[in-house]
Amino acid sequence: MKSKILRGRLLTFASAPEGPEDTAAYTYEEDGALLVSQGRIIERGSFAEITAVAPEGIEVVDHRPHLLLPGFIDTHIHFPQAQVIASWADQLLDWLNDYTFPEEMKFADKDHGKRIAREFYDALLAHGTTTASAYCSSHPNSVDSYFEEAELRGMLMLGGKTMMDRNAPAGLCDTAQNSYDDSKALLEKWHGKGRAHYVVTPRFAITSTAAQLEAAGTLMKEHPDCHLQTHINENHNEIAFTRELFPEADDYLDVYETFGLLGHKTLLGHCLHMNERELGVMKETGSVAVFCPTSNLFLGSGLFDKARLEIAGVRTAIATDVGGGTNYSMLRTLDEGYKVLQMQRQRLHPLITFYWATLGNAKALSLSDRIGTLDVGTDADLVVLNSRATPTMALRMETATSLSEELFVLQTLGDDRAVVETYVAGKASKPT
Ligand code: GUN
Ligand code: ZN
Repeated sequence: MKSKILRGRLLTFASAPEGPEDTAAYTYEEDGALLVSQGRIIERGSFAEITAVAPEGIEVVDHRPHLLLPGFIDTHIHFPQAQVIASWADQLLDWLNDYTFPEEMKFADKDHGKRIAREFYDALLAHGTTTASAYCSSHPNSVDSYFEEAELRGMLMLGGKTMMDRNAPAGLCDTAQNSYDDSKALLEKWHGKGRAHYVVTPRFAITSTAAQLEAAGTLMKEHPDCHLQTHINENHNEIAFTRELFPEADDYLDVYETFGLLGHKTLLGHCLHMNERELGVMKETGSVAVFCPTSNLFLGSGLFDKARLEIAGVRTAIATDVGGGTNYSMLRTLDEGYKVLQMQRQRLHPLITFYWATLGNAKALSLSDRIGTLDVGTDADLVVLNSRATPTMALRMETATSLSEELFVLQTLGDDRAVVETYVAGKASKPT
């Protein structure tokens, strides 16, 4: 890739802002620039500083007056649910049985997976998301489609084969042994190939036998550098069924703990109905609670209690959970997350939400040395945002007087229309 300068209003975070006055937590450069080369950020500074050090005649892409941020990171999404999104269903278990499982069965066909992968990545990039952690279907084919398309686009993506050996249609069920064998083969094929990260992916306790969860634990022991993702405490009927299936467990989290599935690379979707013991174990093990607001509202699952989790010392992340979630946009996700927290008198400042969708999520994935900031040496995965993208936004922006206000307008009113460009390793990649 040719070197270039990207000029715009830069915003990047160094840590979680403690509040609106915590200016040490972020850097904002009104006329800023990045020198980008070989997929990386080589220099960052004011436009004047960067032009002084850049080679003569270098291409300059001027994104002013737009904001230039690290690309959004989605820490929980389902690739085979691109045609499940917006399905009129009852709560979680009915939604899975009536819509989700039938749709995921179609991924037995590699061509279907390939087509959906193209659409899926187009959707991510249209919405400014440059990295995501996805559940593929239980078919190994689907993992190949997923990572092949990521490789074509040069994206840093995480994902894995969904392991599920019971309580689902036969066409989706594997076995403990072949889910271990297939996951291991896929992991060996993809993990560390280019920018791919393999994630061991038992769907949740209801669809895995003890033998399969044990196999997932073995994979994690054998490959501690891989992530693990699953779901927990999303829905009351789900919890009751899990307790029936694992009567010897203290609680839901104990099921996963027993099989060695917890740790600082473990991503636990939802975490809505957690008891105190579970919070203590989450903290001790460094496991991450992933908030999926549009999904939690859509499926009527419950309200994520961010303050309670964080006071307990639990790491948190935020995600779309498409297709239980209803939008690929991290801006829409932040907006719905804000409202969920408003319901609990937890008002999130926009500096904190934008931190969350970038560096916060990068830290939750233990990948902040590569993505989530505009720091020199990291990968040039970026999003350019226009706070005046629609007439409603432009009118409101006439009265905005601060960066925080602008971010809040973007979060509350923005979606893919606000995404001017998405850069993947320095390459302009927003689908046209
Ligand atoms: N629990 C188990 N599978 C799923 C899924 O696909 N989506 C959601 N939201 N929860 C789940
Ligand atoms: Zn999910």
